[in-house]
Amino acid sequence: MRKPIIAGNWKMNNTVAEGVVLTQEISNNFYRDYTEFVDVIICPPAVDLKAVKGVLEFDKRDIYVGAQNCYFEPSGAYTGEISVKMISDAGCDFCIVGHSERREIFGETNAMINDKVRALVEYQGKKMTPILCVGESLAVRESGDYIDYVTKQVEAALAGIDIFDADQLVIAYEPIWAIGTGRTATPEQAQEVCAAIRSCLANILGGAMAEKIRVLYGGSMNEGNVDSLLEQPDIDGGLIGGASLKASSFVNLVKAAVECQK
Ligand code: 13P
Repeated sequence: MRKPIIAGNWKMNNTVAEGVVLTQEISNNFYRDYTEFVDVIICPPAVDLKAVKGVLEFDKRDIYVGAQNCYFEPSGAYTGEISVKMISDAGCDFCIVGHSERREIFGETNAMINDKVRALVEYQGKKMTPILCVGESLAVRESGDYIDYVTKQVEAALAGIDIFDADQLVIAYEPIWAIGTGRTATPEQAQEVCAAIRSCLANILGGAMAEKIRVLYGGSMNEGNVDSLLEQPDIDGGLIGGASLKASSFVNLVKAAVECQK
């Protein structure tokens, strides 16, 4: 049985003060026993990380903090970049890698994403888990080749990386045409690709490991569609953008994941 994950990706929203307020609202509406049933992750902008972590620690909430990006080199002349050690030091246990916005707007290639996944998985400090995002554009979806496209993204991101433990990796399937558009993939569409991702993981890492790795869906997930998505056998939670920016909707998504475990 895989423990579901509800992860909020705030993207480029919330100053430190706003992030603290939102985290406090989430915390105030959060029952401690939720995290027995679901792993909850908040991914704020990098400058908010420490403050968000501080609120969660003060309130003794077992909610994880994740970064939205990192660079693969350990240190040096990389103006504007943030290392794995830096996000770890700021309190992160997770890091989103290869989000379609990074790929499309900032030109991240499969090779760079592979380097980032490696830097996170092989980080020598505290365990740092990549949330590897994959997903096809509308053009690829309409061409019919989306399974091939997405599984190639997974293969490229994991090439040459040893995974020994299922907790070292989370995958998020985020069809680009469903992100921020209000046009969610149907549960069947999301399940089809998440199942294909799991078979691809089985080919790379073996069936036993693939059965344990969490595969999330992302793209206009909200209170109205969460139940039907989480019912799918290969969908183990969500990576949520818009609906994670309001405490009540984010907590309701966490509750939905708790309910589906009971
Ligand atoms: P939305 O939930 O706003 O569609 O964003 C999804 C996403 O990109 C999460 O990483």
